[in-house]
Amino acid sequence: MLAFQGYKLTKWIYFLFLLAPLAHSKPVTALHWWTSNSEQAAEAVLVEAFAERGFDWQPVAVSGGAGEGALKVLRAKVLSGESPDIAQVVGPSIRDWAKLGFFHTQAKSSEYNAWPRALAAQVLPLVSLDGEPFAIPTSIHRINTLVYNQALFEQLNITPAETWQGFIEQLEQIQAAGVTPLAQSSQPWQLATLFEVIMAATLDTSQYLAVMQGFDANVILGSDMRLVFERFRQLQPFISNEATRDWQHHSQAIAEGKAAMQVMGDWAKAELALQPTSSNFALGCSTFLQSSKHVYSVDSFVIFNHVADDVAREISLLLSDPNVQARFSSAKGTIPARSDVPVDYDDCSAQSFEDFHSGDALPSMVHRAANNEEARNVFIHVVDRFYSDRKQTPEQAQQRLANELAALLSQ
Ligand code: BGC
Repeated sequence: MLAFQGYKLTKWIYFLFLLAPLAHSKPVTALHWWTSNSEQAAEAVLVEAFAERGFDWQPVAVSGGAGEGALKVLRAKVLSGESPDIAQVVGPSIRDWAKLGFFHTQAKSSEYNAWPRALAAQVLPLVSLDGEPFAIPTSIHRINTLVYNQALFEQLNITPAETWQGFIEQLEQIQAAGVTPLAQSSQPWQLATLFEVIMAATLDTSQYLAVMQGFDANVILGSDMRLVFERFRQLQPFISNEATRDWQHHSQAIAEGKAAMQVMGDWAKAELALQPTSSNFALGCSTFLQSSKHVYSVDSFVIFNHVADDVAREISLLLSDPNVQARFSSAKGTIPARSDVPVDYDDCSAQSFEDFHSGDALPSMVHRAANNEEARNVFIHVVDRFYSDRKQTPEQAQQRLANELAALLSQ
């Protein structure tokens, strides 16, 4: 009897011992916009890594691709004194908020594990104010990615096109076979993502930068930019009419064989990679028009100032940890922000790594690498108006873009 009670007691002590880390784990509220299956799988890597160091990652997930909802919610929370502990904040907003003193500096991070020194030249400025980092970059997305249904391509005897003309011919062929050629959404940020990918494929690097960063009226009003708008218009008949849903639903249409391909950031690749093997779906992935240009964006987290210094240091260590970045990137479809992390890449990510580090790396406007929120809003709005008003000519849209960007400069 005694022995039995002893056994019971040991069992309870063992059970309590198991629960102990949970009971003592420190909560970390984390605001982000990762709500699709693959985004949550990637988040699970962070949850696990945090738990191993005694933190309980408590998500505040705000739906809306590209952070359309998340940044508004974050602003509202901060204004009402309810800031999360950490948040996914990307691009120039980091500088704007850092100026107001909201975030922990990452200036001492080099002492933790030297991560700032392991960042590519394009990455560090994106998270820094006057040379001082205020966010921890986790991963680099490639925006000009094309995902497709491999079986369908084989059936139609096609491979990803290398030229615009070849691309259009494929779209016609796919449409004739009764399949929606392009699984694109007409949500404004998704349209503008497609548009900037066409821009990168049509303009040369200096023209692309002159529009996105220089607001150069000569280039915006020029014939090459007109061609970008014309090409964008040319795609409209190949996009399904009911296309207003979140990006992951359109990716899903590819897996189900209802649509052939999607031009999207490589997070769509991660989503399609999650299809059950029983579904007979084979994922095809390439860059748009097989270009070696790399349209990039960088995901990053800020740590709010109310977080204690020792906790902030731990969080910084965790998010910049090479192992965590490698596992997170595999799940998210990205390459790690650190360039010194060995990862077992799929072909598309291996190409992304190579092109980002050696090719033409072009900052994405829509995903906040090229410019500030105001310029981004103008860009998305102009593209959206052009798409929804079929009577608008490319010249009118060019003029609108030039005027609205110029107005920002004169503010
Ligand atoms: C973010 C990605 C996210 C995607 C879709 C992008 O702006 O960088 O992390 O998966 O939006 O929401």
